[in-house]
Amino acid sequence: MRKNIVAGNWKMNNNLQEGLTLAKELEAALKGKKVNCDVIIGTPFIHLASVAAIIDTKLIGVSAQNCADKASGAYTGEVSAAMVASTGANYVILGHSERRTYYGETNATLKEKVSLALANGLTPIFCIGEVLNERNAGKHFEVVETQIREGLFNLSAEDFRKIILAYEPVWAIGTGVTATSDQAQEMHAFIRNTLVAKYGEAVANDTSILYGGSCNASNAKELFSNPDVDGGLIGGASLGVDKFMPIVEAF
Ligand code: 13P
Repeated sequence: MRKNIVAGNWKMNNNLQEGLTLAKELEAALKGKKVNCDVIIGTPFIHLASVAAIIDTKLIGVSAQNCADKASGAYTGEVSAAMVASTGANYVILGHSERRTYYGETNATLKEKVSLALANGLTPIFCIGEVLNERNAGKHFEVVETQIREGLFNLSAEDFRKIILAYEPVWAIGTGVTATSDQAQEMHAFIRNTLVAKYGEAVANDTSILYGGSCNASNAKELFSNPDVDGGLIGGASLGVDKFMPIVEAF
């Protein structure tokens, strides 16, 4: 059966010392507590090795927010999937809308990143989602289906089983406007049906599909109560234990 997951995406926040403090505080809050989901934090690259070294990564999974689309070589400023894996991180967020929008990531480059992540034992948290104009034009299903097909459908069923999906409607990210519970369920069910068509019921039913976009302590319970919403990818509300823990405990 698929897992419930609450993952924090710190984005470009927290210097190293602040990040280590936050990770430790979260670990302390989780220790000895029985929670009904996996908990992951997605930190900037520079935090990964130190965070992975000071926390119990069985209690809190550690994720990068990106990796290179090349294995190694003369790519100044890039960080490879192998380098991420060597820090002790187990996950990598790929295709976040901020990377697609500000850094020109395409489904074609993401396909390479996914392959390299998997080849290095990382679990991709693959983000998909439409912008407001696309939703208003009634194209949101088509946009999301294309992102999944072009970014992931080259994978074998065996490899696809290792993917976590995160539906993040771009209009809901950092805006305080959350998708309604019905909008989230409608899209998540569409995504799962898209997976059924390609990989069959068993793979589709085992795939965790997270919701992201202004998810917080007040709306998490309702969003997560939907049958096809298996957790959240949390931005702003992952930057403080007081805001993040109630989301973890929404399950
Ligand atoms: P917010 O929770 O700040 O809206 O960000 C969501 C997000 O982009 C997580 O990846």
